[in-house]
Amino acid sequence: IKAASAIYRFPLVDVQGIPLMNSIAKNWSAVQAFRPDPSDVLISTYPKAGTTWTQEIVDLLLHNGDAEICRRAPIVLRIPFLELNSPPPIPAGLDLLKSVQPPRFMKTHLPIQLVPEGFWKNKCKIIYVARNAKDNLVSYFHFDQMDLTQPEPGPWDEYVQKFMKGKSWYDHVKGYWKEKEKRNILYLFYEDMKENPIIVKIMQYLDLSRSDDIIDKIVELTSFNVMKDNPMANYSFVPKAVFDQSISKFLRKGEVGDWINYFTPAQSQIFDEDYARQMADVDIPFHTKI
Ligand code: A3P
Repeated sequence: IKAASAIYRFPLVDVQGIPLMNSIAKNWSAVQAFRPDPSDVLISTYPKAGTTWTQEIVDLLLHNGDAEICRRAPIVLRIPFLELNSPPPIPAGLDLLKSVQPPRFMKTHLPIQLVPEGFWKNKCKIIYVARNAKDNLVSYFHFDQMDLTQPEPGPWDEYVQKFMKGKSWYDHVKGYWKEKEKRNILYLFYEDMKENPIIVKIMQYLDLSRSDDIIDKIVELTSFNVMKDNPMANYSFVPKAVFDQSISKFLRKGEVGDWINYFTPAQSQIFDEDYARQMADVDIPFHTKI
């Protein structure tokens, strides 16, 4: 995968109240018109909630835990990113999906109200992964430093303020939560994947059956340490002009509760009070520590 010549921190563009990368906004009508097959499966997350981890688990489940087959290509080619429309080097999701026969597996970061209608019409399976707000924020803060196509994250305190005011995390996790029964969404938590791998749950949801040995193998192959050194999962295939992993690794820390190293007690208190207000209408059982 080669880098484009002009990489810079593109400003985000508003689409129906949601800030998206400008390249995605430009291609928005094509994303909305996407027609999935009823057998297609969507993995949906707020960015930095464990998307890549889930993608790797799903690909290994589909291929019976065969590590070699699952190293056939970078994760972005094995499970395309639906709405991504460059900037290069990663090919556009819709282009990649054209060349694959259903059942197709793809990922999205779109909030539920922006997911193309076709997924609901066709009752496609959706795997949603949520991560507790503070760890999600810390991970995103580091990602925004190293992804040179994202707006500057700025100083930490401002970043925390922006996260609370922006509301997008809160709306994202709530949107899928409220619809999960009606739309048969498998709603998972990053923190559970850590404690006790939920590979069996995903397997059952996808109507697959794999032996305990294969499941054990997938647990090992999707552990943080193995994935960190897997060039087809650790985003080292993206050039430094786009993802500068000398600033922060894509597989950075992979822990539950790392937020404690970043939030001051005062910031944490303000965050928690605001959280209680923003999440008052739901009871989503997040864990912020193991
Ligand atoms: P950290 O920045 O906290 O380390 P996404 O894939 O949605 O962009 O999420 C990236 C986050 O998931 C990063 O979090 C990354 O380290 C973590 N992650 C990726 N693979 C993981 C694994 N196998 N085990 C634990 N965490 C993982």
